[in-house]
Amino acid sequence: MDGLSEKTVAFIGGGAMARALASGLLSAGVAKENILLSEPNEACRKQLEQDLGVETSARNAQVVQNADMVVLAVKPAIVGVALKELANQPDLDLSRPLWVSIAAGVSISSIESHLPKGARVVRAMPNTPAQVHAGATTWVANSKISQGDRAATSSLFGAVGTSWEAPQEGLIDAATGLAGSGPAYVFVIIEALSDAGVRAGLPREAATQLAAQTVYGAGKLVIESGKHPGVLKDQVTSPGGTTIAGLEKLESGGLRAALHDAVDAATRRSKELG
Ligand SMILES: NC(=O)c1ccc[n+]([C@@H]2O[C@H](COP(=O)([O-])OP(=O)(O)OC[C@H]3O[C@@H](n4cnc5c(N)ncnc54)[C@H](OP(=O)(O)O)[C@@H]3O)[C@@H](O)[C@H]2O)c1
Repeated sequence: MDGLSEKTVAFIGGGAMARALASGLLSAGVAKENILLSEPNEACRKQLEQDLGVETSARNAQVVQNADMVVLAVKPAIVGVALKELANQPDLDLSRPLWVSIAAGVSISSIESHLPKGARVVRAMPNTPAQVHAGATTWVANSKISQGDRAATSSLFGAVGTSWEAPQEGLIDAATGLAGSGPAYVFVIIEALSDAGVRAGLPREAATQLAAQTVYGAGKLVIESGKHPGVLKDQVTSPGGTTIAGLEKLESGGLRAALHDAVDAATRRSKELG
């Protein structure tokens, strides 16, 4: 694990995203002794210990103490509260770890405002397919981070899918509109394809399986072939055939325009909430 070997990673908040990232690190070969998790809910802690074999604590300060990287994986409204509480503990050196926030809409400057001057901060936007290690994360860093920190951040998000470092923080809103919210758009497309298959006579289970696998396979083909999606579309579209008949309906139904509008609306909303 580039930048993360022998490093200790602490998670503040033990919810869905922390679980996904911690399990990704374990699958990528990080030793369970190098992952710490703090979470107020005892039942949740027990479950994480049982499922992942990692050490947990009810105290955020305890996991931050020896961490090389701290992942802020609490709800956005809790980030400031948790950082304030840590800043009030004089024995903690908050300038030591790399801080990685995955909280939606929480800016780098608001995180920096709770930390010592010069703290290294990364802000990231992962998405829910991280839970099956097929996420798409966009991240951006402040000017203080090192090449080693960059490698560590890439390794963290690379353990649960692909990651892209954005050149400026403003692009996080667009990444939220496309990839953060994107799984929901695709779930609707899969559901609609399944409904259409049922309408055409397929049993529901087969229709959903065919729809989901088709979306998965098409995405995988775009990524692995490196070909433009338009080229791949042309390759399955024969003159006067079935696919062009279907595509004509997608065009007249306004699918492309609807996706433009969806990403645009979600990007604007992300800006407003931030
Ligand atoms: N899920 C996504 O798709 C997604 C995508 C991108 C970004 N994110 C971001 O990821 C962050 C976490 O999301 P999530 O879905 O994993 O949320 P979640 O499941 O609600 O997890 C947050 C966890 O933090 C715990 N917590 C609350 N207060 C705390 C405190 N003071 N110190 C330590 N832990 C505390 C909560 O415990 P209780 O339940 O007991 O309160 C909960 O277990 C959010 O900021 C979200 O914006 C999520």
